[in-house]
Amino acid sequence: MKKKILITSALPYANGPLHFGHIAGAYLPGDCYARFQRMQGNDVLYICGSDEYGIAITLSAELAGRSPKEHVDHFHEVNKNFFKTLNFSFDHFSRTTTKFHENPVHQFFNDLLNNGFIEERMTEQLYSEQDGRFLADRYVTGTCPSCGYPEARGDECQKCGSSFDATDLKNPRSKMTGAPLKLKETKHWFLLLEKFQDRLNEWIEKKNWKPNVVNFIKGYIKNLKARAITRDIRWGVPVPLEGAEGKVLYVWFDAPIGYISATQEWAEGKGNSDLWKDYWCDPATKLVQFIGKDNIPFHAAIFPAMVMGQNEPYVLVDELPANEFYNLEGKQFSKSDGWYIDLEEFFKKYSADQIRYAIAANAPETQDSEFTWKDFQQRCNAELLGKLGNFVNRVLVFAKNNTASAVPERGELTSVDAEFIKEVCKTVEEIKEAYEGFKLRRASQLIMELAQKGNVYFDFKKPWTAAKDPSLTPSMKTTINLCLETLKLLALVSCPIMPATATRIWNMLKLQGKVEEALWDDVVKNQFATGHLLSEPEILFRKVEDAEIEAEIAKLKEMSSKAAPKKIEAVKEAIVKGEISFDQFQQIDLKVGLIKHAEKLPKSKKLLKLLVDLGSDERTIVSGIAEVATPESLVGKKVVVVANLAPQKIMGVESQGMILCGSKESGLEILTLIDCLPGASIR
Ligand code: MF3
Ligand code: ZN
Repeated sequence: MKKKILITSALPYANGPLHFGHIAGAYLPGDCYARFQRMQGNDVLYICGSDEYGIAITLSAELAGRSPKEHVDHFHEVNKNFFKTLNFSFDHFSRTTTKFHENPVHQFFNDLLNNGFIEERMTEQLYSEQDGRFLADRYVTGTCPSCGYPEARGDECQKCGSSFDATDLKNPRSKMTGAPLKLKETKHWFLLLEKFQDRLNEWIEKKNWKPNVVNFIKGYIKNLKARAITRDIRWGVPVPLEGAEGKVLYVWFDAPIGYISATQEWAEGKGNSDLWKDYWCDPATKLVQFIGKDNIPFHAAIFPAMVMGQNEPYVLVDELPANEFYNLEGKQFSKSDGWYIDLEEFFKKYSADQIRYAIAANAPETQDSEFTWKDFQQRCNAELLGKLGNFVNRVLVFAKNNTASAVPERGELTSVDAEFIKEVCKTVEEIKEAYEGFKLRRASQLIMELAQKGNVYFDFKKPWTAAKDPSLTPSMKTTINLCLETLKLLALVSCPIMPATATRIWNMLKLQGKVEEALWDDVVKNQFATGHLLSEPEILFRKVEDAEIEAEIAKLKEMSSKAAPKKIEAVKEAIVKGEISFDQFQQIDLKVGLIKHAEKLPKSKKLLKLLVDLGSDERTIVSGIAEVATPESLVGKKVVVVANLAPQKIMGVESQGMILCGSKESGLEILTLIDCLPGASIR
């Protein structure tokens, strides 16, 4: 039976170009799934669009010297074109600045307010007189209230790991301008998320999602707290209340409603402005939302709570395939670090299907994965060209030369032929299951196995010897018939991941219509008519040469070494701190400490509790290094300890010293020693 499937991919922020890292997370898996479900004959609607509001956008617009509107206009186009280049099949790619957006956002807000789920509160926030505005936490820096580190972030201290409110910082300053900040009263509206705890729990209980998603979200729901959903900025959906002038809704309040407003815009484009309700307001709709793992709380708890608390019969998410992160050669993609792939250059040399396949085959489904140029080359050469391209080409060239480019009749089957048919059908069925279960890696692997089974069968049957011996002609015909059927199935199963390649195979087979519009089960069932004429074979994939790949890697290294070195916090720190005398320096007792035991502090992401041998005594030290080292890896290491630091309580544990680390963009690096003994002084 035909199912209604509403598919979304997280709305990308329109404040920078997307890269393959994003594509691997929320996008390619969504597109492949949409394509697959259309081929299953289901009623699919695939929606996406730009996420255009929020403080991050105003700030990056400011840095780029543009107005927020100009900024999002620019990146909306850039990203839309990127999806086009990659052959995406959205039914609609909208944006959150359309005239459709404000209505449903206000409807959510008003309903939630009237139903008692939104509450007005007075808060104090950090305000910059100089800029005439309130600053969001991430643009605030100041002195850590617990360890005195002078450059702590607005929400937590990167030195001691304690977390706090920006308003707790001492000497708060603007991260951008250094301007001093002061507390000022301001009114905000809070979404009372804790009121949804029971409903969310009950609802999540029935979901069969990936264990990492379910476990994470169950923990998250336990700690739901009221969250401010308004901001003192100008760029956003205005708060629909009197007395709220100059305030807008927080971007994460409006953005998910963008899925709905995008569908409304789509419906209007279809000439039936109510059509969107067929999807959003029909309980039979299956809503499948593709996201990256950083978006889980919003899609699995906050937005569902918003839907539960308002009055329209919108559907809740049914499936939430959340992917992990996809990096580039061991590091995060980052344009400012020069660690990226120039897309314009890339698509001059490689095709959308090559990268779609390489990403799918290595999709970050259960853990982070990465793009490496070597892996890309290997996928292109050994798999796309060596297995798929090779099979397609040899069968079609053989048919051209030996069966007059016509599908020969299928004779009596030997056990080898029968076994081959069975294997092919089984693999096609497994590929279907893989797509159904959001397993792109598995689907990619099985597609290559299918092609390879074809190659092995072709080699085993040796149709070229049969061609020379008339008595073997029937066997040769059977071989080619079965191989051509397999090519047709390869076009079918590869279509969701590689639509252009599938189309080319389909066209070489001179099949009717478009493969992407074909129905899966029909293609599996319907066999070629004997004598069906084929088209001219074409080469599907070119070889990616070693020299090319070496040049790409060299270019990446060069770009990253040229990238402007980031302002490092440590540099600023040197300016902040005043001069001290040699005697003062001598007062700091630095000692070599041997880590004897390490464990995580419960409830903290960053803190480890260490037992350190200082020669003379053993100390308990709490250190914010959990994100840069595992407890096991630390035991036995010799580190630098500030031995005469006054003890301080960190998350209930008395810390009797401090471990020295260097700070870097991505965290910390622990100073270690090799030869010195525990207790040795450091001078
Ligand atoms: N713009 C967000 C991101 O890129 C995703 C928004 S998804 C939506 O992380 F649900 F809010 F639309
Ligand atoms: Zn601190």
